[in-house]
Amino acid sequence: MPLLQRVKTGIPGLDSLIEGGLVENSVILVSGGTGCGKTILASQFIYHGLERGDPGLYITLEETPEDIRADSLQFGWDFQKYEKKGLCKIIYHDPAQINNIGTVILDELSRSRAKRLAIDSTSVMTLAMENPAQIRKKLYGIISTIKRAGHTTALLMADIPEGSKGLSMFGVEEFVADAVIVLSYLGVEGSTSRSLQIRKMRRTDHGKDVYPMVISKKGIAIRQSEI
Ligand SMILES: Nc1ncnc2c1ncn2[C@@H]1O[C@H](COP(=O)(O)OP(=O)(O)OP(=O)(O)O)[C@@H](O)[C@H]1O
Ligand SMILES: [Mg+2]
Repeated sequence: MPLLQRVKTGIPGLDSLIEGGLVENSVILVSGGTGCGKTILASQFIYHGLERGDPGLYITLEETPEDIRADSLQFGWDFQKYEKKGLCKIIYHDPAQINNIGTVILDELSRSRAKRLAIDSTSVMTLAMENPAQIRKKLYGIISTIKRAGHTTALLMADIPEGSKGLSMFGVEEFVADAVIVLSYLGVEGSTSRSLQIRKMRRTDHGKDVYPMVISKKGIAIRQSEI
């Protein structure tokens, strides 16, 4: 068995918890309630790659590309610089057109040769669906599409409704992904108000605790001591 290639996340404190990085060509579900840092984490992951020459693709189904660019600038991440060089693409896709999302992803992935992909968020894609089997099938199709492209490590952002104890909105998303990272926010001021937990990561002996997470002017960082 060849040694697994690992992809550095660019999140200080995270890679050492996951044997050096995410498994290359794997699909990671990053779930959390509103304001937990999903969009910042996705942007930080893609931007870290751009700085190292990894082509990046950000598919946004909620915020506009202008908002993603503007939000990122406050952390010093200038996406436009890389978009102009053709290394990065931030595209908005209308979640109402859920039928063709797989095709869009496949087309964009083969055109851009993106090594890093973020889809933010996958929850709106399946909002119109009620049947868990249908949602699972849809996500499975998307994940297979990404894996078939063969060169992309992907973060699928997923919303968790307020007050829910589940790992995702519909309770099926986590089963189809290779890894699940859960972001939480206690809603109180203090150093441990935010946390990150690696709920599963296939082929990885990952940290099993709930780790304090901070968002600052530099973006997201994880502290090693568990809560
Ligand atoms: N410069 C900053 N310093 C500290 N915290 C910040 C900074 N900028 C944003 N935040 C925090 O990050 C939160 C937004 O994070 P983000 O947009 O990534 O969340 P999200 O999980 O994508 O939420 P949603 O998609 O539901 O809007 C803000 O509510 C704020 O608490
Ligand atoms: Mg968001």
